Amino acid sequence: MASAMKTTASPRYGPGAPQRAALLNKPAAAVVTNGSRLAGVEMAPPDPILGVSEAFKASKDPNKLNLGVGAYRTEELQPLVLEVVKKAEQKMLAAGYNKEYLPIEGLDAFRQATVQLLLGSDSAAVKEGRVAVLQALSGTGSLRVGAAFIARFMKGTTVYISNPTWGNHRNIFGDEGVEWKYYRYFDPDTVGLDFKGMVEDLTAAPDGSIVLLHGCAHNPTGVDPTPQQWQEIADLCKAKGHMPFFDVAYQGFATGDLDKDAFAPRLFVDNGLEVMVAQSYSKNLGLYGERVGALNVVLSDADAAKSVLSQLKRLARAIWSNPPTHGARIAAEVVGDADMFELWKSEMAGMAGRIAKVRGELQAALESRCPDRDWSFITKQIGMFSFTGMTPQQVDNMTNKHAVFMTRDGRISLAGLSSSKVAYLADAIVDSVRNH
Ligand SMILES: Cc1ncc(COP(=O)(O)O)c(C=O)c1O
Repeated sequence: MASAMKTTASPRYGPGAPQRAALLNKPAAAVVTNGSRLAGVEMAPPDPILGVSEAFKASKDPNKLNLGVGAYRTEELQPLVLEVVKKAEQKMLAAGYNKEYLPIEGLDAFRQATVQLLLGSDSAAVKEGRVAVLQALSGTGSLRVGAAFIARFMKGTTVYISNPTWGNHRNIFGDEGVEWKYYRYFDPDTVGLDFKGMVEDLTAAPDGSIVLLHGCAHNPTGVDPTPQQWQEIADLCKAKGHMPFFDVAYQGFATGDLDKDAFAPRLFVDNGLEVMVAQSYSKNLGLYGERVGALNVVLSDADAAKSVLSQLKRLARAIWSNPPTHGARIAAEVVGDADMFELWKSEMAGMAGRIAKVRGELQAALESRCPDRDWSFITKQIGMFSFTGMTPQQVDNMTNKHAVFMTRDGRISLAGLSSSKVAYLADAIVDSVRNH
């Protein structure tokens, strides 16, 4: 693909070629004056997650199944708009609202709601004004502005990310020029947490490093530390002066309970640690395309929080200027109205419950077809995903032979599976692991 895009016929050289060569970082002789100035730009590789959705759309197979992207589907495998979201939108329409710009830091009602959801309604840090809260473009934008802050104000600090992790973490920090390194996280032998490896790596990291942690429902493994292990990680961060950076993309989606899923960031804040937290409402409120989220920086000092917020605003102003209004209003309405809040919680529990149900069904279907293997990891893992341990060759067989689309790291999104498709998927998995 890349070479097909480059002009190779009748090379002619002329004024401007050296400048263009410098731009493209290529020798002047390689630049053609009558071709595009950007002819040397190579095709970027397809995104490992969203590229799967594109391949799924292109497939004509009637049995095709998209287990790539982490987006919730109904039993009929259709996208879901929550009832509570429709209610909030109706209320907003009836009350009337405008489409004016929001302040750079975002909608006030949303900012108050989001930090309260994260840290709890009686959080001392919130009461004491020690949290800088910036509304941002969902989880990705929150992480990115956090990365930009690190690049500008914590120069030279390395961010430690789990191996494996959500693929975009590498892009987000790498594109901001922030150095990142892996810490061990997953043990393929136990299909569980490599806690010893994680502690060793974070202990060996230079003091004052940044540690990216998934708040709950680790993506892609579905394996979280226990409460005791979280406490040990908090102690380690404190002893080493590490700053945790939580990625909270699944609050309420792991267990169906917002408070339980906020256990880890709340524990760290209660332990006196300064933390950064990126929040997303894509999954728990189903607002994927609305891009609703926030970056929270919890500090030990209210003046520092004010300065940090001013700098986050400075960064956001030059990226998106001010955040989108619609989704933030929905989230603020839902959290601010007791009845809607209850409805949201029950719908969230319903989504988490459907995923737990298909987990159980898939495990049972695999156990009956292939009893010589241990499939218990499927119900031990939590959240949207199951990390199956399938090799890239086995994944290729899943896709090419069975039209089951999934990422090549062996991750499947159970949010994209229905009870009626469990048998089909189990047959495909057994064929792939037995024969490839
Ligand atoms: C771990 C993790 N972080 C962040 C995100 C960001 O998603 P969004 O930008 O839609 O909030 C995702 C989405 O899949 C995720 O899995």
